Amino acid sequence: MKNIFYSFPLKNETTFGINAIADEYISIESVQEAKDFFSIPSDKPYYILGGGSNILITKDVNGIIVQNKIKGISTSIIDDSTIHVTAGAGENWNEFVLYCIENNWGGLENLSLIPGNVGASPMQNIGAYGVEIKDVFVSLNALEIATNEIHTFENEACKFGYRESIFKNSHKNKFLIIDVTFKLTRKNHKISANYGAIQSELQKYNVTNPTIKDISKAVIAIRSSKLPDPKVIGNAGSFFKNPVISIKLADAIKLNYPDLVEYPIDETSTKLAAGWLIEKAGWKGFRDGDAGVHALQALVLVNYGNTTGNEILNLSQRIIDDIHSKFGVTLEREVNIW
Ligand code: EPU
Repeated sequence: MKNIFYSFPLKNETTFGINAIADEYISIESVQEAKDFFSIPSDKPYYILGGGSNILITKDVNGIIVQNKIKGISTSIIDDSTIHVTAGAGENWNEFVLYCIENNWGGLENLSLIPGNVGASPMQNIGAYGVEIKDVFVSLNALEIATNEIHTFENEACKFGYRESIFKNSHKNKFLIIDVTFKLTRKNHKISANYGAIQSELQKYNVTNPTIKDISKAVIAIRSSKLPDPKVIGNAGSFFKNPVISIKLADAIKLNYPDLVEYPIDETSTKLAAGWLIEKAGWKGFRDGDAGVHALQALVLVNYGNTTGNEILNLSQRIIDDIHSKFGVTLEREVNIW
């Protein structure tokens, strides 16, 4: 089979830029190639890789990395105001978002400039600036590795949660996502500009009635101003999830920290900004060797050059322990650890 490599270096395959070797690596460009490949059983485990933007590799991979490069975009007009757009899992996410905006299809603009590929977007229900993929997700097609059969998963079946889906849990590494279909607007776009940072960005351009293009432009400006560009400094975006805690605990924290940043959820629980907790604990800008905490967004751990996955993992554990001892809050990692 074409495109199989042995002892394959992974440094350039994830946005963290961590050095590691995979026993085998294959890139797959079509459904037929995927079916052919998986029809021959292997005793080695598979690791499905998309854009590599949410993965920390901590050791050499004793298995087969399957990089999903299935491309293609197709559309189906539903009515005057709605279009379904289907994109191959291997399409670059941001290029896809910009393509939709150029065609005046609304719904993805708040998710501009998120690194990674289309296929990974439902896996962790990517979200930013008030929008999550589940808000516009229709369905996906995925190849079940064990049976070589294609299954369609509708929105409900994916069990989307905050940075969660069935593909991050019970279905992990069991399916190869082929394509994803989104329900986008052709007119009367639903503009989500409530997020404080978007509003202040739009004010800078004196925009009061934003188009989807304006929103995208604002989001790109905000992200570029505080999130490190993985092409320059290795990172995987937010390393931790924003923790959901009880209001009781939040009230106790507020006695010492009245400026606590929180997003109330219901009568008993509230979500905290992990970046705020990490900054308050003094970690923002911390550096140990080539592993560090980004100086402009404390939720992002960075590789300044040649750190190892374990150094990043150890740093994350030190942060988790420290946040627990200072605030009584347990942070959870958002990045997938290999
Ligand atoms: N904050 C600090 N210090 C920091 C970072 C943040 O005080 O170092 C405070 C901010 O001032 C703000 C609050 O924390 O009051 C929230 O910060 P921000 O708006 O930057 O968002 P976030 O909660 O840190 C989440 C997502 C991001 C997403 C942004 C915007 C998670 C884990 N992260 O970050 O997603 O872009 O909201 O919607 O939910 C990602 O998942 O990789 C990611 C970048």
